[in-house]
Amino acid sequence: MVSTLFNPVKTLIPNSASLQCAGRIVFVDDDLDILKAMERMLRSRQVPWNVKYFSSSVEAWGFVQRNCVDLVISDVSMPHMNGLELLRRLRDNPTTRNVAVLIMTGLEDDALERQVLEFGATDLLCKPVRTDLLIARISSSLKLKQAHDQLRQQNERLERMVTERTRQLEDSRTEIVLRLAKAAELQDEETGHHVLRVACYSRIIARALCLPVDFQESLFLAAPLHDLGKLGIPAAILKKPGSLTDEERSIVQGHCKIGERLLSEQCPLFEHWLGRNVTAARVKSEPDVLLRTAREIAATHHEWWNGRGYPRGLAGEAIPLTGRIVAVADVFDALTSPRPYKPAFSLDRSVAIIREGDGTQFDPQVVRAFLDSMDEIEEVYLQLRMPDSNSKPEMAAT
Ligand SMILES: [Fe+2]
Ligand SMILES: [Fe+2]
Repeated sequence: MVSTLFNPVKTLIPNSASLQCAGRIVFVDDDLDILKAMERMLRSRQVPWNVKYFSSSVEAWGFVQRNCVDLVISDVSMPHMNGLELLRRLRDNPTTRNVAVLIMTGLEDDALERQVLEFGATDLLCKPVRTDLLIARISSSLKLKQAHDQLRQQNERLERMVTERTRQLEDSRTEIVLRLAKAAELQDEETGHHVLRVACYSRIIARALCLPVDFQESLFLAAPLHDLGKLGIPAAILKKPGSLTDEERSIVQGHCKIGERLLSEQCPLFEHWLGRNVTAARVKSEPDVLLRTAREIAATHHEWWNGRGYPRGLAGEAIPLTGRIVAVADVFDALTSPRPYKPAFSLDRSVAIIREGDGTQFDPQVVRAFLDSMDEIEEVYLQLRMPDSNSKPEMAAT
């Protein structure tokens, strides 16, 4: 038989000086006499609470899930769902987890009492409960619940602020990195999105290699700085049409070490004026992943898999994976873009040249990942290619 729900919502006048905390309460007991007595007693005391009375714990559970409730006062021994089961469900459900729960029991059972508290009841009352004691316990449970709610809301607000602030910092860091990369790009290219394309191609390759998402993101942000060292190379050499002399070539090749140095050096004077604490914190903390990755790439993106690259002649896996990936992305973009000394090569010809470098200039695994991702690579190429390469790309050899 479905239990009786009586006295739906009790809105009582909050005029009791000792009971300042308003609350929404669900009272559950399968004994109708107890429910009626409780209702009479609370009404006579003019407590400032909205109370709903249920003789069925199943109905009470349904109500609590659908409504905003601050406190459940429940009997233990009830048919269909006893007080412990109701308590367990309340604690397991994310929407009811924070509801305060007072368990009332007529059983003198230490093990039960311990279990009730272990299950997360706010308090335990032994029947018969004195009126003044019950009201005091309800009042303190509601105040405790209110304090927890405020604390939780404050924490949520702080978490939202931290998340927003972190996002702003990340955005501003990304912005600075891209602008710095663009500054370096201006040294030898007047238009285009070389650094952005290299970043996109690198991330696509990293994804095809099933590298962790964090790695992909660091690579994407750091790759645009691969040619940062070109800031230290005279623009007259970088923009020179035609071929370079041996001396000029060696000057250009110096951009790897210049970039590495720019991304390695600490700036003690700057840090001094920034504040001593910042410096101390930085010394203690891990090196910044973005800076470390950018330094690695700047230093190694012209190394060759067979050891015949520069500046150090590293070979195979002695070259960091970041450098091996950006090497393919950078060369592919240089091939498909017009340069002072050559037109933009077609996609087919550029891909063929990358294939030719498989195992000599480039890591075979990286080349395979690059070729496997050709659809995505082509999409980036079409979206971000330079205006010049739109109008007069070199035709593919047929
Ligand atoms: Fe470079
Ligand atoms: Fe480059």
